Amino acid sequence: MQNKYYETLLANAVEKSALQHEQIGQIINFRLFGNKKGFMTLESLPIGDIPPTPLSRDLLCKPDDSSERLLLQATALLGEPIGYLQESEGCIVNNFFPQQAHSRGATSDSFDTELDLHTENAFHAVLPDYLVLLCPRQDPDAEAVTYIASIERILERLTFEEQAFFLTEPYNFLSDYGPTEKNQRIDINRHQTILYGDPDAPFFRFDPHFMLAFSSRAQQLMDKLRAIAWEVVEPVRLNRGDMLIIDNRRTAHARSPFSARFDGSDRWIQRAFAITNPNFYAERLGKRSRVFGLVTEL
Ligand SMILES: [Fe+2]
Repeated sequence: MQNKYYETLLANAVEKSALQHEQIGQIINFRLFGNKKGFMTLESLPIGDIPPTPLSRDLLCKPDDSSERLLLQATALLGEPIGYLQESEGCIVNNFFPQQAHSRGATSDSFDTELDLHTENAFHAVLPDYLVLLCPRQDPDAEAVTYIASIERILERLTFEEQAFFLTEPYNFLSDYGPTEKNQRIDINRHQTILYGDPDAPFFRFDPHFMLAFSSRAQQLMDKLRAIAWEVVEPVRLNRGDMLIIDNRRTAHARSPFSARFDGSDRWIQRAFAITNPNFYAERLGKRSRVFGLVTEL
């Protein structure tokens, strides 16, 4: 299992800091205080030698691990780095690049299809608290845009009644994880509200393509919410060495389509997840692990 390698890398990443003091401060500040837009970026990090973008994950070979160390250090500053069995077999660093086989698919390996707004793993009982994305290589035509909509901006455009509705109305969140693979659409009986937590500063989970409404009014309001979320999105273009940290409990994100050439020059993104409450999950699941399968209930 590759994670043994990543455990060592993680230890190195936090002991031998690759991020500068000021950048560490910015990340801790974001974790403690957040911000209105629900994300932060760091630009032009020293990511070392980047080989040509591979054509498939099996061909991935990256001797210089500077980018992985930056990614894992940032992730560890936010919480506990974790993986999911259904994502790169539980690896705590996920690599994404265009793959011809995934053309037109709504997955992170696709390129020519827009990924609509979604909270990462909104169906999962072990929700990632933060996503950390690092860009080893921008797409050659610089078309790819990541969009982020934060609940703070969305709330400004909702009436009090609509907010109350989203705090109380359950939707059926479908799972895109099967027992071992992803890109599914499975009813796991996960009925939950879009807004949750403190009503005055609620958390937000939203993935309209994987949510079923229980009434036409609930459907209408979900459609309205999706439109509002798209109105308030902030675009981010990731260049080589840029890091994007997303607060996954307060945002939904999307990605534009972009072109791929399959000649080593394609977009390459590395991703890691952080959870902030590993002890709680260990208590509820009776198991301590950095890699989670599908958890439908705690
Ligand atoms: Fe995503």
